[in-house]
Amino acid sequence: MSWSTLLNDVTYRDRPNNNAPNTTSPSNTITTADARSQISRARSYASTAATSVSISGDISSQLHGGYSHPLARAWQAERQLTKAMLMWPLFVTDNPDEEEIIPSLPGQKRVGLNKLVALLQPHIARGLKSVILFGVPLAPGCKDALGTAADDPQGPVISAIRLLRRAYPRLFIAADVCLCEYTSHGHCGILHEDGSLNNALSVDRISDVAMAYAEAGAHCVAPSDMNDGRIRAIKLKLIEAGIAHRVNLMSYAAKFSGCLYGPFRDAAGSAPSFGDRRCYQLPPGGRGLARRAITRDIAEGADIILVKPATQFLDIISDAKEIARDMPIAAYHVSGEYAMIHAAAKAGVFDLKTMAFEATEGILRAGANIVISYFTPNFLEWLET
Ligand code: PBG
Ligand code: ZN
Repeated sequence: MSWSTLLNDVTYRDRPNNNAPNTTSPSNTITTADARSQISRARSYASTAATSVSISGDISSQLHGGYSHPLARAWQAERQLTKAMLMWPLFVTDNPDEEEIIPSLPGQKRVGLNKLVALLQPHIARGLKSVILFGVPLAPGCKDALGTAADDPQGPVISAIRLLRRAYPRLFIAADVCLCEYTSHGHCGILHEDGSLNNALSVDRISDVAMAYAEAGAHCVAPSDMNDGRIRAIKLKLIEAGIAHRVNLMSYAAKFSGCLYGPFRDAAGSAPSFGDRRCYQLPPGGRGLARRAITRDIAEGADIILVKPATQFLDIISDAKEIARDMPIAAYHVSGEYAMIHAAAKAGVFDLKTMAFEATEGILRAGANIVISYFTPNFLEWLET
C-alpha cells in the first residue's frame, strides 16, 4: 500500500459521513484545496491513531498473530500427531521365553510368545492402537532356500497373531511379509542359480505367506520383499479365499535400498549372506521409479501405500500423497533413523524428545497419515501431556 493511497483511505474514513456514498468529491478525484486539507487532517490523525505505525509492504506480511498461541501453532499443521497414527514394530522369536534387549535399537526388545502379552500391556493401557510383527527364527537349522519357516503354523508370527487377537481384541495387527528372515541366503525371495531373484516363484511363495498370516487373523499384511507383482497376487488370493473384505493390504511400494536398515538386520538376523538388495529395493535417487511403483501398486490393489525410509525421502512421501491422494500413506521411520537420533542425543547434539517430534512432524507434514516408529512407546507417554 503506497503512502498516498493509505492517506486517501484514512482521510476518507475520517469523514463525518463516511457510510454514505460521497458524490461531491470522491477520494480518487480530489481538488488541490481538498487535497491540502485532507493531508493536514490525515497527518494529525496519523499521529494519534493506529496508522502511526509504519508498515512496509502489504498487510498480509503480518503473520505472527496467526501463531502466537500454542493452540494456534498446532492448527497450522495439516495433520497433528495422534496416537492412532502410530504403529509399533515388534520382533517375535521362536524361543518362547526370550526377552532380549536389542543393542543397536535402544529400548527395543526381541521377545518370545510367553513375554509378548506382558510387553504390550502398559503400552495398550496408554493407547497403543497398532503393531507390525516381524518374525525372528533362532532355532538352529530352521532357515532354508524357500524360507519354509515363514508360514510355519507353529512359528512365531502366526502364533503371535493368534495370541494377540485373543489377548487384545481391539489392537490392529499388521504382519510384515518377507522371506529374508527365513531364507538361508538372507534374500527377500527365492533365487535363480545365479543368485538373482526368481520373481515368479518368489511372488507365489510371498503370496502364500501373506495368506497364512491373513488366515491366522492379521488385520493387515504388508509385503516388504519388493518382488514385482506381489500386490496383485496377494489381492487375488485374498479375494479367492473370501477374506479380501477384512484384510488390509499395505504395500511397501517405495522402499529404497541403503544403509539405514542395518540395526533391523541385526535385530532380525536378516542380512543377506552375499551381495545386496540393490536389484530389488529402489535406488535412492529413483524418484521416478518410486512414482511408477506407487502407481502400479495402487492398480494392483494396495489399500495403503508405504514409503521407507522416511526422513531422507520426504519428497517421495509427498509424491505418494499426491499420486495416492485417496488412500492413507504410511511412512516407516526405520531402525537406522531411530538409532541415529538416539546416538546423536546421547552425544549431546540435541534433546531426544525434541528431535523425535521434529522428525515425526516432518514426516506428517510431507503427507503421511501413518508412521511406523520405534518411538511409539515414547510418543504414547509424550502425547499424554
Ligand atoms: C524385510 C524388512 C526390512 C525392514 C522391514 N522389513 C529389512 C530389509 O529390507 O533389509 C527394515 C525396517 C527397519 O530398518 O527398521 N524385508
Ligand atoms: Zn526382506
